[in-house]
Amino acid sequence: MTEITFNQSYETAEAKILIATKEEDLNYGAAQIIDRSTFNRLKALIEREDTAENKKDILVLDMVKEAVVLLRVKNTISTAELEELGGKLYSRIKNFKSAAVYARKLPKTDFTAEKVAESLAFGIELASYSFDKYHTKKKPSDFPKLETVNFVAKEKLDKKTYEDKAALANAVRYARDLTNEPANELTPEIYAADIKRLEHLGLKVTLLNQSELKKKGFNMLLSVSQGSANPPYVCIIEHRGNKKSKNWDIALVGKGVTFDAGGISLKPSAGMWDMKQDMAGSAVVAASLKAAAQQNLNLNIVGIVGLVENMPSGTATRPGDIVTSLSGQTVEILNTDAEGRLVLGDCLTYIQQQYNPERIIDIATLTGAIVIALGAEMAGMFTNDDCLAELLSISGEQAGEELWRFPLNDNYRKMIKSDIADIKNISNGRAAGSITAACFLESFVNKNTPWAHLDIAGMDKVEKAKPLYPLGASGFGVRLLNQFLKNLEKK
Ligand code: BES
Ligand code: ZN
Ligand code: ZN
Repeated sequence: MTEITFNQSYETAEAKILIATKEEDLNYGAAQIIDRSTFNRLKALIEREDTAENKKDILVLDMVKEAVVLLRVKNTISTAELEELGGKLYSRIKNFKSAAVYARKLPKTDFTAEKVAESLAFGIELASYSFDKYHTKKKPSDFPKLETVNFVAKEKLDKKTYEDKAALANAVRYARDLTNEPANELTPEIYAADIKRLEHLGLKVTLLNQSELKKKGFNMLLSVSQGSANPPYVCIIEHRGNKKSKNWDIALVGKGVTFDAGGISLKPSAGMWDMKQDMAGSAVVAASLKAAAQQNLNLNIVGIVGLVENMPSGTATRPGDIVTSLSGQTVEILNTDAEGRLVLGDCLTYIQQQYNPERIIDIATLTGAIVIALGAEMAGMFTNDDCLAELLSISGEQAGEELWRFPLNDNYRKMIKSDIADIKNISNGRAAGSITAACFLESFVNKNTPWAHLDIAGMDKVEKAKPLYPLGASGFGVRLLNQFLKNLEKK
């Protein structure tokens, strides 16, 4: 991981980064920042580029053990794009020991030098993440060398500006770390204990263990964990940022299936290892509360995560079993691999009974069907409220984690009616699998409560690295929800 610093020396860095706009190139005093001969070599390199359209975003002048990098930005650049440029920059400079960026105000934009530094630094932090704890044989030379990236500007940068984004980067790392952990190392019990440790940030964390869950009647959730040797937990995480109000502005609900073998409806073995990540939604919820606490968001936010392992065994739920959910609705479980909705359904009921939140967002690696629909580019959104849809979509665009809305209506709702119970956990065919899953969740939400379900299956894991997403767990959703909460805070 690369450390971000501010206002340290620019001269001693191995990689020196300058920023120009596409129009002006070096005309803003680069000569005062780098020495004359380097300036001339950089100028010559720029002149060798053929046409203006070919101007690269990142131009590197490689020298022995050193480099000067010219970052070019267009004056229509967005924050998300600037962050992505930071990620791309990281991959070009990661093998230098130190780097320094000369930040500056971008003419004809709202970007101050601080804002430019913040966006680039955030991109570098996200791009430099790696999960190395299980390597015992690798040598330091096998890893990227970049230890620090220092930001300077003509005037001293106020590093306080970066605190919010630093907290968010930290939260994304937390979600990625949790999601990368293998299921033997992150059982529901270990996971719950980890979340309990968030209390040191001022969050209140309540754990419900198996016997408490039985007493309360989380029967759908328990039907998932009953085949596993690892007992379930539910964690409730409270951030009371607005002490003046008694209301809960929002509830965040996360699917935390620490391993999804499918239960008796066993999954095929090829690729089953990916199902250690079936708790990604819960990691996003825990990380979002962590960020909210560190950023002192002026909102009352409650998170709930259902932590279970879905295994086949002699005690496992059988296809055809009927359980009575916490809401009182009876549910026919026809496929034990459609378990996420069972876990979330009881969590949704509980959080409404106990907290009566003004709105609810759940997030889950819920269906393979959403991966077929959207691939690894966008997450699916299902909601009963147009305003919530709008605010979530905008937040996604701002954060660079985008959503695509799907429909919910009675034709789909009909598809999960059961012949012998209130509802069933799958529809008859595979058609509209992500929508019928959302309809199932909707039946546990009070009619008048704005609710959105985000299906992040396919987004939880990066198979082809992107600038801000190294291979492995993505933490997708943390930036999106943080942006959403910040927008909500302003409303
Ligand atoms: N955890 C899976 C969904 C999933 C699939 C996540 C691929 C990430 C990548 C979920 O519990 C599941 O198994 N869903 C089934 C539902 C089906 C049985 C109705 C599915 O999508 O196949
Ligand atoms: Zn499943
Ligand atoms: Zn699952």
